[in-house]
Amino acid sequence: MFKEIESPLPLRVEAVKKSPEAILGRPATRPRVGFRTRAMARRVRGAFVPAALLCLMATTAFAADIAPPKLGRSATPDEIAKADISIPPDGKGLPPGSGSVAQGAQVFAAKCAVCHGANAQGTPNGDRLVGGIGTLASANPVKTVSSYWPYATTLFDYIRRAMPLTNPQSLQNDEDYAVVAYILSIDNIVPKDAVLDAQSLPKVQMPNRNGFINWEPRLIRP
Ligand code: HEC
Repeated sequence: MFKEIESPLPLRVEAVKKSPEAILGRPATRPRVGFRTRAMARRVRGAFVPAALLCLMATTAFAADIAPPKLGRSATPDEIAKADISIPPDGKGLPPGSGSVAQGAQVFAAKCAVCHGANAQGTPNGDRLVGGIGTLASANPVKTVSSYWPYATTLFDYIRRAMPLTNPQSLQNDEDYAVVAYILSIDNIVPKDAVLDAQSLPKVQMPNRNGFINWEPRLIRP
């Protein structure tokens, strides 16, 4: 049925296609399905059911013998609180505190400019954060916080959670509000004398606020 062929892999074989008659030397018969008599079926079933039960018992016993792996532990409430810092678009859960554009300029110069550039224009080590408003539908869209992000609350969340890249979650809430105010002031999304806090931040209208389509079917009204 098989013949060896020349190959760098010694075990490689190739099936030679032959008709069943040629291989068997007689006409091929169909495999018989089912039992010839009821008695035979009973006998087979009679053997099969206890065997299956035995297998099941063996598996159960086996499982009982092996303790679950002792990996990890439950998170403490304190740890959960530290990780549970998501701010939704409407700003629910924004912490107390506030920050002005002027304060934010200082924070930015000290903790962000090294990667994002002096005026948040970007460097090879950090994204450009501003500019590009109105370019999204053009041949060369420039996606930045200013041009693309729909919610200012997301900016607060992201910076608090992830920035500065080398020391995330190190900013005070006042510093975060301030640096958000500074970034948004560069493209005049907020005025240069803005002070942001839990009340004013969710009211900021981002330029691309209505540039997204919601495909969540439950939210699409007829
Ligand atoms: C060590 C370099 C570094 C520093 C310092 C740093 N960033 Fe970043 N930042 C990055 C990099 C790299 C990214 C892109 C991360 C990614 O896409 O996962 C980023 C992304 C961002 C984004 C998201 C941009 C976008 O369009 O997706 C924001 C906003 C941001 N940083 C703000 C800040 C602020 C505010 C500070 C200072 C408090 C800061 N960063 C400090 C490197 C840095």
